[in-house]
Amino acid sequence: MKRSLSRLALCLACVAPASIALAQSLADQGKALFGTHCAACHNADASGIAGVAPPLAGALRERLATPAGQAYLANVLTHGLAGPIQSQGQSFNGVMPGFATLPDASLAAVLSWLAVSNGAPEQAVSTDTLARARAERKTPGAVRKLREAGQ
Ligand code: HEC
Repeated sequence: MKRSLSRLALCLACVAPASIALAQSLADQGKALFGTHCAACHNADASGIAGVAPPLAGALRERLATPAGQAYLANVLTHGLAGPIQSQGQSFNGVMPGFATLPDASLAAVLSWLAVSNGAPEQAVSTDTLARARAERKTPGAVRKLREAGQ
């Protein structure tokens, strides 16, 4: 008994900091990728640019919280988005390119950082959800229908 308890303590001591470090690095990695691929349109802090691209920080909390919303976000990142939308009281009618050239792990990292920017848990959208969206091969216009469906 004593022996197994000390083993448990040892196990907790090594696993806990490692998993925290992993979670931090996922969001940090996502922040860097966001700076490279997304900030030109959405602003470095993801606050959006009026008339160009919608805000993401603080605007995606509800979508991040449901499986349908997560699937929508995975579709936006892989296939893009086009057509009129409303976000935070502002209108947009632009075209976002898809980022299917980036691997699912990178897109998951970007979504992890966006989750942090929305006060949501870092483990936001899984690579499985991204892989499913990728396989659906939707057009940017079809992705907007997912948004319109309230997802
Ligand atoms: C060339 C400019 C551009 C780039 C680069 C870009 N976006 Fe977008 N993004 C847009 C536009 C424009 C829209 C809104 C499209 C519309 O009006 O239908 C949008 C919409 C979105 C949405 C949907 C928001 C909502 O309220 O439903 C998300 C999420 C998003 N972008 C994330 C990203 C991420 C993450 C990246 C980088 C990997 C990125 N975007 C790169 C222009 C861009």
